Amino acid sequence: MTATVASLIVRPPDRGDRAGVLDVVAAAFESSQEARLVERLWADGSIVTERLAEESARIVAYAAISPVTISRAGDERGHHFATELGLAPVAVSPRQQNRRIGAKVVNATIDAAFQQHPERLLFVLGDHAYYRRFGFIPAEPMGYRWEGGSVGDAFQVRARTSPMAPRAPRTHGSTELNQTVVRYCDAFGIFDEEPT
Ligand SMILES: CC(C)(COP(=O)(O)OP(=O)(O)OC[C@H]1O[C@@H](n2cnc3c(N)ncnc32)[C@H](O)[C@@H]1OP(=O)(O)O)[C@@H](O)C(=O)NCCC(=O)NCCS
Repeated sequence: MTATVASLIVRPPDRGDRAGVLDVVAAAFESSQEARLVERLWADGSIVTERLAEESARIVAYAAISPVTISRAGDERGHHFATELGLAPVAVSPRQQNRRIGAKVVNATIDAAFQQHPERLLFVLGDHAYYRRFGFIPAEPMGYRWEGGSVGDAFQVRARTSPMAPRAPRTHGSTELNQTVVRYCDAFGIFDEEPT
């Protein structure tokens, strides 16, 4: 059953919220890696926007957006010709899931990012069955491939105005479809490291 949340506050975190945010992220993913990702995003100054949700002064959800870069295939670590946005992580405390808290924190984070960067695209890597409700569509048919490889409809994109009009990567006329690679920022290197 879905219960609505009347007393939920969604806001940017401040430094005093950091431990609570990390607790929620670690609990949602049942792994320390995503929490370490958030710590590294903070340490690197790589957050574009972030929002937490709190209920009765307890942090129950968190979402962040950081930069991604667009490069030609084969040149992922060299020249990039555009900077866009990537949504990750999104976490709701396990006991608070299915109450629309995820929807609220994601929508607030996306709105804030597009207010800052209305011209940018926003990518997400996750379950399309979930993210389609936020206007995301599969990115690969649009010509964008995640640097980790092809993941079908799990790699998704949207523009500020949703649904996104079908279009080739707008950033570089001479780059052919399916030759552009999307790279998350350095903090995501955490997923290449051994879990602690
Ligand atoms: C995914 C997550 C953020 C959703 O938060 P939430 O507050 O439970 O979501 P909401 O209440 O806004 O939405 C619930 C709806 O999403 C659906 N949903 C939740 N997770 C889903 C998933 N992985 N795939 C498809 N649908 C999903 C629910 O079935 C429900 O569907 P309904 O609207 O038809 O009833 C939360 O479950 C979570 O933190 N999961 C663990 C971490 C994670 O996987 N994060 C996303 C990584 S990309």
